[in-house]
Amino acid sequence: MKFFNSSKEKENFDEFYQKSSTKELINYINKLNALSIMFEDEKYFTSQRRYEKVPAIDSQTARLLYFIALMKKPSNILEIGFGSGFSAYSLYCGAVNNIRHFITYEHEKKRFTRGKKYIESKKIDIELIFDDFNEQSIKRLMEKEKIVAFDLVFIDGVKREYPVYFDQVKKIICRDSILIFDNILFNGKLLVLNRKKDGKNTEGAKILYSFNENLAKDKDFSTLFLPVGDGIAISIKN
Ligand SMILES: C[S@@+](CC[C@H](N)C(=O)[O-])C[C@H]1O[C@@H](n2cnc3c(N)ncnc32)[C@H](O)[C@@H]1O
Repeated sequence: MKFFNSSKEKENFDEFYQKSSTKELINYINKLNALSIMFEDEKYFTSQRRYEKVPAIDSQTARLLYFIALMKKPSNILEIGFGSGFSAYSLYCGAVNNIRHFITYEHEKKRFTRGKKYIESKKIDIELIFDDFNEQSIKRLMEKEKIVAFDLVFIDGVKREYPVYFDQVKKIICRDSILIFDNILFNGKLLVLNRKKDGKNTEGAKILYSFNENLAKDKDFSTLFLPVGDGIAISIKN
């Protein structure tokens, strides 16, 4: 029985099946990154995510944050949404030699208490604030700490609030500041929910969907959207 009509067809077939799957190649890249960037406390954060069910960035996003901080060398960092602290820890590790102020907000008591204990035990210079992030609170802190502007902001609070956070954060950054938005794919459900008329989380997904579109069109920022973790947007203030 003849399987191929020409030697070219056979060549194409061989070439196709010699390629690794996309998943295999991505796993390979992830393994290289895990070898290249090692986090002393990674196990603590992954167990917080698995056993305590605290939502957190994945290991690849952590490495991306670390690397952005390493390149940017920010002195003032702000985070909205501490959770168990994996993102704060990754950014901190990358920026450690230049940080003057690292402020992060967590409004859930249990997460705040656990986070505070962790930060103190590690003697990390991060100021964890037990409050709902809002303009008055951050402006008060900036005045007290004599912070003129933040040069890196990581936004990982309630997804439907992203447009509000963005408006608030715009007032406390300067030229070349970097804003990073996590979960721009809404736990992978963004497109499915955006197509729906109503139902659970549909409104939140629609808000985030138009937020992404507006951010992409915003000429005051240069933005790169990346399919890392649950989707990340990195914006630089022009
Ligand atoms: C996705 S989790 C943060 C994960 C963390 N950034 C990480 O990757 O390790 C979001 C956290 O933000 C907190 N949060 C949400 N909105 C907030 C707000 N407006 N102010 C303070 N904390 C907030 C939630 O309680 C939750 O713990």
